[in-house]
Amino acid sequence: MDYEPKILGFLCNWCSYAGADLAGVSRIQYAPNLRVIRVMCSGRIDPIFILEGFLKGIDGIMVLGCHLGDCHYINGNYEAEIKIGVLNKLLKLIGFSERLILDWVSASEGNRFAQVVNEFTEKIRDLGPSPIKDKKYKINITDELNVIKSALSDIRLRVFIGRKRSIITEGNVYGEVISEEEFDKILDQAIYDEYIRNKILLKIKNKSKSVPEISKEIRVEPNRVLEHIICLKSRGLVDFDKIIDIYPKFISIKEE
Ligand code: FES
Repeated sequence: MDYEPKILGFLCNWCSYAGADLAGVSRIQYAPNLRVIRVMCSGRIDPIFILEGFLKGIDGIMVLGCHLGDCHYINGNYEAEIKIGVLNKLLKLIGFSERLILDWVSASEGNRFAQVVNEFTEKIRDLGPSPIKDKKYKINITDELNVIKSALSDIRLRVFIGRKRSIITEGNVYGEVISEEEFDKILDQAIYDEYIRNKILLKIKNKSKSVPEISKEIRVEPNRVLEHIICLKSRGLVDFDKIIDIYPKFISIKEE
């Protein structure tokens, strides 16, 4: 089968885009598979943009910014590192993380730009087309990407992403500084919990289900499912629907 990977690149205006420009004027060859979206800073990239790209069938996505310490907006690339890091952990849960990279290319690195693009294109070529293009997996992958999209649209993970740098450097509201290791441990748990909670919401979106039914569908212990249901109910996202054969059934009341 003829397969040419579709690669999407988000390039920061001040470094990576200028690096791509330099590669062009220096006539350095690189894979023609890349389509570029120029952004002012890698910190401008919302993970939702990346998920939209995957949902539209892009095979691989690159986010390229200035080297750490060189961002024109001081911290933009550090913010990008945190956001893409969280997205990457979520993509890992559905086996999609290899299709995304974050890297740094400066305005004077035309050769390096070509090398990064070529290597990534080859990696995506080896991985094959995005499974979303395969009728057999399309519904499942679309659902999984949408679950990640809603987990990342929710305030909880956004607060973690937005506060990470200040909490590990200046401390929380009580002035307690948390080590990065400790913060990441809490964040990892939050990432997994939000993924499962959004998966539950998807399963009970159009039809109410009991805890054992949900547990069977998402392969998570019933007691853990119940804990998540209680949490979602306290957030006003889930409601009790009816009782069938002693089992209460719950339905999602999350607004789209
Ligand atoms: Fe290039 Fe911020 S301006 S990463």
